[in-house]
Amino acid sequence: MANGLLARGMTGLLASPVLSPVADRVLAPLWNRRNAALNEAALEALALSAEDRVLEVGFGGGYLLERMASVVTRGLVAGVDVSPGMVARFGRRFGAETQSGRMDVRCAPAEDLPFEDGAFDKAVSVNSLFYWPDAAAGMRELARVLAPGGRLVLCLTCRKCLENRLVGRVARAWELDELLGLAIDTGFEIGSSERLADRHRLYWRLALTRSPGWETAPVTNGGSDRQTAHPDDAGCED
Ligand SMILES: C[S@@+](CC[C@H](N)C(=O)[O-])C[C@H]1O[C@@H](n2cnc3c(N)ncnc32)[C@H](O)[C@@H]1O
Repeated sequence: MANGLLARGMTGLLASPVLSPVADRVLAPLWNRRNAALNEAALEALALSAEDRVLEVGFGGGYLLERMASVVTRGLVAGVDVSPGMVARFGRRFGAETQSGRMDVRCAPAEDLPFEDGAFDKAVSVNSLFYWPDAAAGMRELARVLAPGGRLVLCLTCRKCLENRLVGRVARAWELDELLGLAIDTGFEIGSSERLADRHRLYWRLALTRSPGWETAPVTNGGSDRQTAHPDDAGCED
């Protein structure tokens, strides 16, 4: 409960104009560097083609948007982030691509995506879901904007590694079976789930497929009440 309130505060903080300049100058380069391996793992699982329409939620410093744009040369690379600083930073760097219609980056939350139903073939989110104030609402929005059979890739630091860090105090740490429950409850089928590691942490990589008929699935809390024991978390850095 306390963690939930704090997590809402973190998204609120990142969205606030006060923290925007800090996010832009300090956090964006830091995240680009430290999360590079997770973003590369996500990119691999997306298996993008040049014509894909792909959305990233919580793009931060824009590392993955840039990598995706180098592959998706005839489709669309879109992104949302709650931080105005991140969006402004991206706009400065990729103004030409945005003007040409190849990229579409907006300031918006996962829980209220500003896109039409079925607008994307693929979607991705890396180390962002644990900040979302309502993860189930965000996941349902992702199911809505994906076309039938569309792919969603999630990469995020495992629970124990997250809890061992300062950020664990302002994020809602997820264990694998909780994540799988969340995905199934919000309109996805599980393609694969893997536990991977880079030199900073252990993390989950999930490849999900948007279920046909997800719209008629009963709305649940996405498994957010489930609590599970940790599996072997040896390998967490700190
Ligand atoms: C830890 S950073 C990760 C950034 C990037 N994906 C990476 O791997 O480096 C989390 C990002 O998610 C964004 N974020 C947090 N809550 C969000 C929400 N509810 N909707 C969309 N973005 C959100 C933050 O502003 C931040 O840019």
